[in-house]
Amino acid sequence: MSNEKKYLTTASGAPVGDNQNSITAGQRGPTLIQDVHLLEKLAHFNRERVPERVVHAKGAGAHGYFEVTNDVSKYTKADFLSEVGKQTPMFIRFSTVAGELGSADTVRDPRGFAVKFYTDEGNYDLVGNNTPVFFIRDAIKFPDFIHTQKRNPQTHLKDKNAVWDFWSLSPESLHQITWLHSDRGIPATLRHTNGYGSHTFKWVNKDGEEFYVKYHFKTDQGIKNLDPKVADELAGTNPDYHTEDLFNAIEEGNYPSWTLKVQIMPKEEAKDYRYDPFDVTKVWPHADYPLIEVGKMVLNKNPENYFAEVEQAAFSPAHFVPGIEASPDKMLQGRLFSYSDAHRYRIGANHESLPINRPVSPVNNYQRDGFMSHDSNGGSAINYEPNSYDEAPKETPENKTTPFEVEGFADSVPYDSDDHYSQPRALFRDVMDDGERDRLMQNFADHMSAVTREGIIERQLENFYHVAPELAEGVAKKLGVEVPAHLKK
Ligand code: NDP
Ligand code: HEM
Repeated sequence: MSNEKKYLTTASGAPVGDNQNSITAGQRGPTLIQDVHLLEKLAHFNRERVPERVVHAKGAGAHGYFEVTNDVSKYTKADFLSEVGKQTPMFIRFSTVAGELGSADTVRDPRGFAVKFYTDEGNYDLVGNNTPVFFIRDAIKFPDFIHTQKRNPQTHLKDKNAVWDFWSLSPESLHQITWLHSDRGIPATLRHTNGYGSHTFKWVNKDGEEFYVKYHFKTDQGIKNLDPKVADELAGTNPDYHTEDLFNAIEEGNYPSWTLKVQIMPKEEAKDYRYDPFDVTKVWPHADYPLIEVGKMVLNKNPENYFAEVEQAAFSPAHFVPGIEASPDKMLQGRLFSYSDAHRYRIGANHESLPINRPVSPVNNYQRDGFMSHDSNGGSAINYEPNSYDEAPKETPENKTTPFEVEGFADSVPYDSDDHYSQPRALFRDVMDDGERDRLMQNFADHMSAVTREGIIERQLENFYHVAPELAEGVAKKLGVEVPAHLKK
């Protein structure tokens, strides 16, 4: 058969004779099971969906590159950051957190900011958000927290009682919820928001010196936000507003970019720093650790196929490269397990070999088989170690995780600081202007006004009071209630 004109085939490659009329017994007769093309078509259609991500289900992705603009080799031996001018291909996926795959883009929610760098030493994934902090600081609270953001088990409705019950009982959330209800809680587009690694990570240089690091991707488009009323309207008229904006901007050659900056803390300073440097509800004030430029990320290519590239993209905080390691952050430690576990469930044991996830560097190991092993599966190479074959892959001791000291008893221990207040206070009093403060209090009041369960509003106002009495008073006034009397004594 000629290849000049593409012809329709079954999945097994046989030409299809008729794709419009199924085979029936006579003109009006029932359909014959012999129509194997029809059977295959219906069966494959039934299997088109993989489970959506349990969080961050709605997202938009883009390809691009990262280019180093400043020498940071004294802090990390990571090859992709090793010299000014070095470029590394990358893929990013932006997302909302709580909504389902078809939910609206313009909601008040953190935006996921997940970046995969295809480096010459394997994939490095930085799976961050557009906020520098998070709601909780121990992975053990994550499933409960997310249940409050999702739907009520009975009504299947979003549940403000659950949201504020959890937040009011988890005052470590105050910093993140202050950020979330500020103007920045609804970005104008995905191009007009920053990205943060949020956690503290460890960098190690060629001499084995260790540094703690926080990542900040600053948007080169400038910060722009949506008025909540406009955002609500858009959620109805164009629920894919952000997805569309990103795709069109890139299609038109209007490539968005971000400047990556880091804060660097020498390892010895971590012990006595005034905040626990591994507490993801805290930032490192810039006055203590100023931003150091690293490079620029440019998004210049849309995906060809949404499912293959965006839906099957598997980002994991456990994807490190030599020179970048985990810190003891209790949230990060939980995430090191959670993501690849989710990927094995969502897209299968061999998800790493899908084109969007496959490293550009060689993958040589002794893992074999499993569902949908669709590359050569190691071919005829031996599949065990230790072995006596020179050509078989060998470990590289210079890439061992840097040894780290531990101390104390193993126990379920809370963080040793309950200062949930000083950083949201700085955000509220020092960073926001009068207009932003007023809009923040209005956004809080609008969100909380749907709370009906007794005690929640009072408890949250008390939390606000510890941040700043004027914050609690302002929200209470907009809600038409009083700040609990015992606070004023
Ligand atoms: P600085 O004044 O040095 O930094 C303030 C930071 O706040 C800047 O990074 C700025 O980012 C950001 N910012 C400005 N307006 C807003 C807003 N409306 N909502 C959220 N962020 C905003 O102060 P500190 O470093 O001492 O931090 C003070 C407070 O600022 C912190 O408690 C934290 O809430 C917030 N913040 C701090 C960050 C940090 O890493 N230190 C990062 C982001 C926020 P931009 O340049 O993008 O405008
Ligand atoms: C997605 C778990 C905290 C950012 C996910 C997914 C899981 C998960 C299971 C779905 C992964 C998939 O199916 O592909 C957790 C747990 C956390 C946690 C257990 C706390 C212990 C955080 C934090 C951030 C974050 C603190 C940001 C700093 C993201 C992003 C995605 C995501 C951006 C979407 C990735 C993508 O685009 O595919 N999370 N998460 N998460 N999470 Fe978390």
